[in-house]
Amino acid sequence: MVGSRVQLTKAGREYKACCPFHTEKTASFWVSPEKQFYHCFGCGAHGTALRFLMEYDHMSFPEAVEELAGRLGLPVPHEGGGGAAGADTQNAPLYELLGRVARFYAEALAHDARAGQYVARRGLNAETVQRFALGYAPDAWNAVLSRFGTREADRKALAATGLIIERTAARAEGHYDRFRDRIMFPIRDSRGRTIAFGGRVIDRGEPKYLNSPETALFHKGHELYGLYESRIAGGSLKRLVVVEGYMDVVRLHQAGITYAVATLGTATTPEHLKRVFRLVREVVFAFDGDRAGRSAAWRALQHALPEAREGREIRFLFLPEGQDPDSLVGAEGREAFERRLDAALPLSEYLVRELSGQADITHADGRARFAEAARPLIAKVPAGVYRELLIGRVAEVVGLPASRLDALWQEGTVAAAPAGPPAPAPARAQHSAGRGSLVRQAIARLVRFPAIAGTVTAAERAGLEGCAEPGADLLRALLDDLRERPLQISAQLIERWRDRPGGEHLGRLLEREEVLDDAAAAAVELRAALEKLADLGAEQRLRALEAKSRTSRLDDQELKEFQVLMSRKTIRDDKPGPR
Ligand code: UTP
Ligand code: MN
Repeated sequence: MVGSRVQLTKAGREYKACCPFHTEKTASFWVSPEKQFYHCFGCGAHGTALRFLMEYDHMSFPEAVEELAGRLGLPVPHEGGGGAAGADTQNAPLYELLGRVARFYAEALAHDARAGQYVARRGLNAETVQRFALGYAPDAWNAVLSRFGTREADRKALAATGLIIERTAARAEGHYDRFRDRIMFPIRDSRGRTIAFGGRVIDRGEPKYLNSPETALFHKGHELYGLYESRIAGGSLKRLVVVEGYMDVVRLHQAGITYAVATLGTATTPEHLKRVFRLVREVVFAFDGDRAGRSAAWRALQHALPEAREGREIRFLFLPEGQDPDSLVGAEGREAFERRLDAALPLSEYLVRELSGQADITHADGRARFAEAARPLIAKVPAGVYRELLIGRVAEVVGLPASRLDALWQEGTVAAAPAGPPAPAPARAQHSAGRGSLVRQAIARLVRFPAIAGTVTAAERAGLEGCAEPGADLLRALLDDLRERPLQISAQLIERWRDRPGGEHLGRLLEREEVLDDAAAAAVELRAALEKLADLGAEQRLRALEAKSRTSRLDDQELKEFQVLMSRKTIRDDKPGPR
């Protein structure tokens, strides 16, 4: 598997190569096919085949599992998700069918003069056509139907992929091709399998772009056009630029900006952003300078706020009126476009600019309105350094110390809460909301960075003893296990826990919970979660003792515990400042 990514030479039972994770001239990267393990003596990178895919191909854990299983021809059992077990094997014929149809469209493009001329007129060269597997859907009602839908079962499959549509008119029967006389853009998943298409009319016609419908394989809200092509473009992906159109992506790649992706006729969703931030730390949204572009940008900002945090960069580029990335990169070329990307507006500045445009901040009441407008937006940002910075920036505009602004926001929400539509949750309440999920948060961090178990003190571990939150047993067991037998790598932990109680959740948690890609930050967050769980446990225990004391006498031990808990509570409640 590693061999398909790195040039390996045999060395006894192992293989060696120049390390793909750092630059070197002599080979210090070892791969053991027997142990399915790699190690670099130069930079220390090491891990399992899974880890390799996650690091080298920037795959998420489930993607890596699927990729590996795919290579070995194994089905991947999927947990939960409405009996999706073996969905991949079930859907294998559909993937295969879509692949064959994509090849058919590509052939058709090669043989159709008019379609070929259109593609050339749009400035696309042969290499680009091939890289994006562009094609042409012939001008017929049954081009795909007659070739791929001879048997009833085939037509069922074609309909399931959205390639053919069933006639609904009263006396008509049968099916017809969805895509006719269009330039076809295959939409590919993270493994490069075609899962859907977008089709553009050649001359005139409605709609200009037609997309596959949502199917078992294709969910618009998750997929990004060009993500697969960006990943395989070579070089390390550092940032992604999110644009609006198919043609924008293709033209940017052709110009050498091989990190462009597009949403598929929908707004940017939080899922899109999660996928993007698994691959890179930096995202630039590029929007047309017109009204539609500006409102799309504002929606993107709102969806991006929950994903904003320290270490991530989210910026916005507004193109000159009347231009889109396609036309602009055509006119200016790569360097000029990249200079624009480099100078794009940071999220915080865009937010301030937009809000201060709506209120006259030269007057006190305008500044108050500005602060009011900013509050629900900032409440969407997860607690942390980044949010503090953002609050600081807004405070600067308002002309108040950040702490004062934050306090006003808290009060304002409390006062406004009973009447009217539900006020946005105050930032801090949100922070401590969903207590059940504190355990999840803690476990997810442990799974992502098993080594941080070593930073948990005995006192912090002891604080968990009384905790009765769901999953607390698993958290305690994990902490104890990792103290006794430390591990460095997620895959090893998941492997070790495969058959233990609760172990089946670990991989899924790693996928679902957002964990910063930074062990030190994860350690801090883990310990913060443990501290909060300890507080929670202490409070529950205190209440239980209080209740008991009303009906029966507490014994000496219980009395002592009660006193300790009370003094702990007093100290905590007296602590100045928010907690
Ligand atoms: P645009 O209308 O801006 O088109 O739609 P474009 O990308 O500049 O296309 P060209 O240059 O005219 O070929 C932007 C994106 O919005 C979605 C498509 O994803 C398109 O790429 N869209 C647009 C649709 O899904 N349907 C439509 O009818 C129009
Ligand atoms: Mn365009």
